[in-house]
Amino acid sequence: MRYKILTYGCQMNVHESEKIAGLLDGMGGVPAEEGESADVIVFNTCCIRDNAERRALGNIGVVKGEKKKHPDLIIAVCGCMTQQEGAAAVIRERYPYVDIVLGTRNIFLLPQEIDKVKAARAAIKKRSDKRYRAFETAYPEEYLSLDERTPVTRTSFPNAWVNIIYGCNNFCTYCIVPYVRGRELSRPMSSVLDEVKKAVDEGYGEVTLLGQNVNSYGHDLTGGESFEKLLRAIDGIEGKFRVRFMTSHPKDLTDGVIDAMASSDKICSNIHLPVQSGSDKVLKDMNRRYTRERYLSLIEKLRAAMPDIGITTDVMVGFPTETEEDFLATTELVKTVRFSNAFTFVYSPRKGTPAAEMPQIPYAVKRRRIGELIKLQNSVTKELSEDYVGNVYEVLAEDVSPKHEGMLCGRTESGRLATFPASAERIGEFLKVRVTEARSASLFGRLED
Ligand code: 5AD
Ligand code: SF4
Repeated sequence: MRYKILTYGCQMNVHESEKIAGLLDGMGGVPAEEGESADVIVFNTCCIRDNAERRALGNIGVVKGEKKKHPDLIIAVCGCMTQQEGAAAVIRERYPYVDIVLGTRNIFLLPQEIDKVKAARAAIKKRSDKRYRAFETAYPEEYLSLDERTPVTRTSFPNAWVNIIYGCNNFCTYCIVPYVRGRELSRPMSSVLDEVKKAVDEGYGEVTLLGQNVNSYGHDLTGGESFEKLLRAIDGIEGKFRVRFMTSHPKDLTDGVIDAMASSDKICSNIHLPVQSGSDKVLKDMNRRYTRERYLSLIEKLRAAMPDIGITTDVMVGFPTETEEDFLATTELVKTVRFSNAFTFVYSPRKGTPAAEMPQIPYAVKRRRIGELIKLQNSVTKELSEDYVGNVYEVLAEDVSPKHEGMLCGRTESGRLATFPASAERIGEFLKVRVTEARSASLFGRLED
């Protein structure tokens, strides 16, 4: 059984695709080579913005042709998109050749659903629309224990993704995630620690802790667990490795977490702290539950505790109530904070969320604002990159450079990507790299012995 997994969206989905691969490998599957046709195609979808959704739907449309050529092909769609209200019915109607639809918390059903589809096909001589189609997007109550038993085939060596909390309770007014990923569920601390230890023993040099809001880790557990305690416990694990985490919500980032980061050996001085907007009015309308002042004071505390910290963010333009003045407050904040990098988004109305019901801003205004914001952030990133030139950094060699032959790339502790000449055998090693050149967001350098 040859399989292809097409992944859309965030790191959570990248890691969930590693679980899908683990399940398919467990059934004797192997990944299809480039250009080779597959027996099973899984779409692991995203619906955070309209364009993410359209990309997945477009590709699901394209496989219709493949199904004609290869009628035994099994097509499965899972992930966030299928959990939206009415989405499973739309898929059932518009893409009748899709065999299996699963949600965000039942992917472990995939092997049994594949078997059922195969059995149903074998039972009917003539293929008809009576064939078995699985549509299951409910959240099982025993999700956490089922998840603990789901195998993982890691595909991101030397980085190991480790989930710590699922779902989101925050209901930012623009965001679909709480609707499609359900309420927060923290994994037991012992399971997280065991998974980290195992990855370190297997030679993974970096562990990235994942959650929609890692800072609320533990509030639903009963032993006084917290993200701060988890970080301190992970820092105590033996071995040479680095720890990153994403995503942090500014309203829940505590002084204890900042101290745990600063006083640790292994937790990187690197944080992704989405600000979304620099205007208090827009932050309130987004239900973010922090002010511009509180955000800026967090940045000050982080920099006081870790002077070399790399801080990245998410910023959105075109939220329904954003005026020109509010947008200027955002650009002022971006100039003040000087983020190492910012992921910039145009607000996209999501059906079922409060902001989608508000009067919307014209597209031309959104487009101009995003253009200005990107230009501003690019100039900040470029200036900050210059500060790296001439210095030596410890870099974990992560992969061959996709653009430069004979070169590897990896990140500094602060999270900046560096590219340098080295052979592929060195992937997974911590190397000393002297940065010799900065080109906007990328740093170039050479090995220093
Ligand atoms: N439109 C645009 N961007 C969004 N994000 C979340 N929801 C939307 C939306 N409806 C952005 C936020 C979040 C990031 C993961 O995606 O900036 O931090
Ligand atoms: Fe969406 Fe807000 Fe939850 Fe992040 S914290 S997933 S932006 S609702």
